[in-house]
Amino acid sequence: MVMRYVLSIDQGTTSTRCIVFDQRGRLVSVAQREHRQYFPRPGWVEHDAVQIWRNLERIAPEALSQAGIGLDQVAAIGIANQRETTLLWDRHTGEPIGRAIVWQDTRTDALVDEFAARPDASMVQKRCGLPLATYFSAPRIRWLLDRTPGLRERAERGDVLFGTMETWLIWNLTGGPEGGLHVTDVTNASRTLLMDLASLAWDPDLLDFFGVPRAMLPQIRPSTETYGLASRVLPGVRIGAALGDQQAALFGQTCFAPGDAKCTYGTGSFLLLNTGHEPVRSSHGLLTTVGYQVGDEPAVYALEGPIAITGALVQWFRDGLGLINSAPEIETLARSVDDNGGCYIVPAFAGLFAPHWRSEARGVIVGLTSYITKGHLARAVLEATAWQTREVVDAMNADSGLALRTLKVDGGMTADNLLMQYVADVLDVPVVRPMVAETVSLGAAYAAGLAVGYWADLEGLRQNWYRAAQWLPSMEPERRATEYDNWHRAVERTFGWMKS
Ligand code: G3P
Repeated sequence: MVMRYVLSIDQGTTSTRCIVFDQRGRLVSVAQREHRQYFPRPGWVEHDAVQIWRNLERIAPEALSQAGIGLDQVAAIGIANQRETTLLWDRHTGEPIGRAIVWQDTRTDALVDEFAARPDASMVQKRCGLPLATYFSAPRIRWLLDRTPGLRERAERGDVLFGTMETWLIWNLTGGPEGGLHVTDVTNASRTLLMDLASLAWDPDLLDFFGVPRAMLPQIRPSTETYGLASRVLPGVRIGAALGDQQAALFGQTCFAPGDAKCTYGTGSFLLLNTGHEPVRSSHGLLTTVGYQVGDEPAVYALEGPIAITGALVQWFRDGLGLINSAPEIETLARSVDDNGGCYIVPAFAGLFAPHWRSEARGVIVGLTSYITKGHLARAVLEATAWQTREVVDAMNADSGLALRTLKVDGGMTADNLLMQYVADVLDVPVVRPMVAETVSLGAAYAAGLAVGYWADLEGLRQNWYRAAQWLPSMEPERRATEYDNWHRAVERTFGWMKS
């Protein structure tokens, strides 16, 4: 009998990765390629969508050949992607209109303030579950339409299309420049500010509010469904799923029951709590978002606390300050001292996301004295991730009325034991990491495999989850309270920096 596999594509902020999984959810092969980050002005972040597509063209065959398998052994493709990153392209030539504007980009700051000042602004969060912020796609679409002569008319005629990265990849996989499928899934659509959370359809009032023409938007589909067959790169293989990467991680961590939560620690960190079939409205600075939708079953919703800068702070410590040569070295450096020496770093590089939503905030280092060494700074860098997680968990507990009992974690930063212990300490709950750390990719694979019957049901997937590591809280309550108070006071120092 020929063995079959699922191929997942994780199109992330810094790289694109293809992973082949077997039926037990084990990783068989990985191929990965980074793409360039463009920072044309302070606060601006862009990606070249053609480079991202070309990377996929190279790594997808590489992953198959490493696994020693042919196309006929791929049961389905699942796609997970960086969310909110906004791309426009020409329907007829497939040429992008400029570079993709990345989720971290704050160029729409003034535009977002204008939207927020409108009398009907409160309708937005009620309808789509998201606060008005530079993080999401709609202000970027509007920004592009306003600044490029003739673009709005072309978009109204449907000659210019909008998509996030899964839409761009599916368009290219299924047709190429002449035009393939123009689709997105409910999780990605729920990050645009344009979708009605209840009906899971583009909302005419929101389109009107942001001035975005309907004709440029993709069709919204369930996360798990056979969208079509790839005709390029992986010809003949079914595309069975697309999800925003954080929702894919929720799926990969098998957080299928209301109350299940996970946090993925990468460039940024994203804590999602499954809230079941009812969207829970946040009054504490969290997002209401779609967790996933399996076929034509009712959607599952989530509360989310996105944190913009966590791993990116370690990268800055390495590349911007040059205090370490590789990211893992930060743990050794941080262990060279006993504590942070009274120093706190708040990495508001792209403003602050949940629960503050202050796009004008900028980063601070407080508590500097001549006693502070690079070891203390390294501690403050790691602790910033833990305290930001604590702020999100507090908001989540307040919104849901339940206290988080355990946190499932994944992502690159979970290799840092000191950090994970600190997260358990400041949250005062156990933190657990599964055997397969590539949870985003695994979730996309699971979702695609479900669509084509490679896996039978959610229960079967749950049985593939094994705990690999656990950190138990051990911090004195008084110390926790004092340090959290210090953190709050440091956060207040970040506000009000970008007065124009
Ligand atoms: O919302 C942004 C998020 O999807 C980015 O995730 O892992 O690509 O940095 P990542």
